[in-house]
Amino acid sequence: MVGGSRLVGEVRVTGAKNSVLKLMAAALLAEGTTTLLDVPDILDVEIMAELLRRLGCEVTHDQVGGVVAITVPAILDHRADYDLVRRMRASICVLGPLLARCGAAEVALPGGDNIGSRGLDMHVDGLIKLGARAVNEHGYLIASTEKRLRGESVYLDFPSVGATETILMAAVTADGTTVIDNVAREPEIVDICRMLNEMGARIAGVGSSTLTIEGVEELHPVTHRTVPDRIVAGTWAVAAVITQGDITIHNAKVEHLQIALEKLVIAGAVVTEVEDGFRVVMDQRPKAVDIVTLPYPGFPTDLQPQFIALNAIADGAALVTENLFEARFRFVQELARLGADVRTDGHHALVRGRLALSGAPVEATDIRAGAGLVLAGLVADGTTTVYGVSHIDRGYSGFVPDLVRLGAQITRLEEVG
Ligand code: EPU
Repeated sequence: MVGGSRLVGEVRVTGAKNSVLKLMAAALLAEGTTTLLDVPDILDVEIMAELLRRLGCEVTHDQVGGVVAITVPAILDHRADYDLVRRMRASICVLGPLLARCGAAEVALPGGDNIGSRGLDMHVDGLIKLGARAVNEHGYLIASTEKRLRGESVYLDFPSVGATETILMAAVTADGTTVIDNVAREPEIVDICRMLNEMGARIAGVGSSTLTIEGVEELHPVTHRTVPDRIVAGTWAVAAVITQGDITIHNAKVEHLQIALEKLVIAGAVVTEVEDGFRVVMDQRPKAVDIVTLPYPGFPTDLQPQFIALNAIADGAALVTENLFEARFRFVQELARLGADVRTDGHHALVRGRLALSGAPVEATDIRAGAGLVLAGLVADGTTTVYGVSHIDRGYSGFVPDLVRLGAQITRLEEVG
C-alpha cells in the first residue's frame, strides 16, 4: 500500500467474530438446526465450521448472505483435535457445550500464542465446581461427568471472557441453580446469553457482573442475529482519524465503544451518531491519547495496537498500558520498522508521536497487530508491505476491498514464502 490517502465514505460492519464463534459452539446444546445471521466471512468461522462437522454436525455457510446453519445430531462426537485447535484457540469454546450435551469433552490444549500464554485454569476450576472431573492427558483437556452437572456458586478471579462462556454453557442444562460472580460483561457475552435464553435457557443478570442460571432439561434450536463487531467498527473509526478522513460506519453501536470513541474525540475527531451507527470526521493532526486496556466496559485490548499506530503519528506523547495480554506489544518492533518511536517496559508503552512514518515491509503477528500495521501503512510515506495477511483474514472480512472503496491505495498480493 502507498500511504497518504484520506479515507472517505461508508462501510458496513458484520457480526462479531468473538461472538459468532461462541454462538456456533452454543448451537451444540440443542439437537436440530440453529441458524445464525450476519456471520462474517472470515477464516475463523470456516475453522469453527470444520470443527463442528468433525463433531458430527452438518454446517452450511452462505458467505454472501452471511448465514450459517448448523444441524446438530442427537449423538455427538466429543473430541476436538489438535490440528484444528492449534489453528484457532477459540476452539476451546466447545468444551462447555460438549460436556453438557455428552457428559464428556476432549479438547486439545491450545497452548500459548503470539499475544501471550493464556491460561485455562478458570475454565477448568468452574467445570470442576459444577461436578465435572478434568485431567490434562497427552496434550488434551479431558472433562467428564457421570451424572448431570449440578448448579453451584462459582467466583471468577478475573472477568475472563472465555471462562465465563465455558461455565455458562455448561451450567444452562445443569441440575439446579448456578451463580457465576465476577463474569465478563462484554457485548459478546450479552449476545450469547440472549441466544441461550432464546433457546430456552433461564439466565438472569445478563450484562451485569453476576449471572444466575437456573438449569433446564434441554434447549431448542433458534435463529439468531449476531451482535455487530465493535472491534472492526473501532478499527474503522481509527482509520478515519489516522488518515484525517470521514467515515460513516453502519451496523455499529456507539454504546459498545464508549471509551474508545471518547479517546478519538480527545484526539480531535468529531463523532456523531447516525441511525444504525456513527460517523467519524477528522480534519487535523491527531493529539496523542493515553489508554489503559481493561475488561469491558474498559478500553478493549483488541483496539490497543490500532491506537498505538494512531499515537505513532500524533502530536505529543502517550502512555499505553496493556493489562490483558503480556505479549501484545510484540508488534511494536514491526511498527518501529516504519519509524515509530515506541518504548515498552513491562505492560507499559511510551509512544512519542512522529510527524511522519516511512513505508517498509512489516510482518503481522496476530489479527489486531495486523490491523494496526495496515493503519500505520495508510499514513506512512511510500510503500508498506504487510506480510502475514492470513492473520488479518481471521478477523476482518473484505478488509482490502473496503479500504479501496474508501480511497486507500492498497492491493492484496498473493502471500509469498
Ligand atoms: N486467563 C487466565 N486463565 C483463564 C482464562 C483467562 O489466566 O482460565 C487470562 C488470559 O491469559 C488473559 C486474560 O485472562 O491474560 C484474559 O483472557 P480472556 O479469557 O478474557 O480472553 P479470551 O476469552 O482468551 C477473548 C477474545 C480476545 C480478546 C479477549 C479480551 C475470543 C475468541 N477472543 O479472549 O480476542 O482479546 O477476550 O477481550 O473471544 C482477538 O479477537 O484478537 C482476541 C484476541
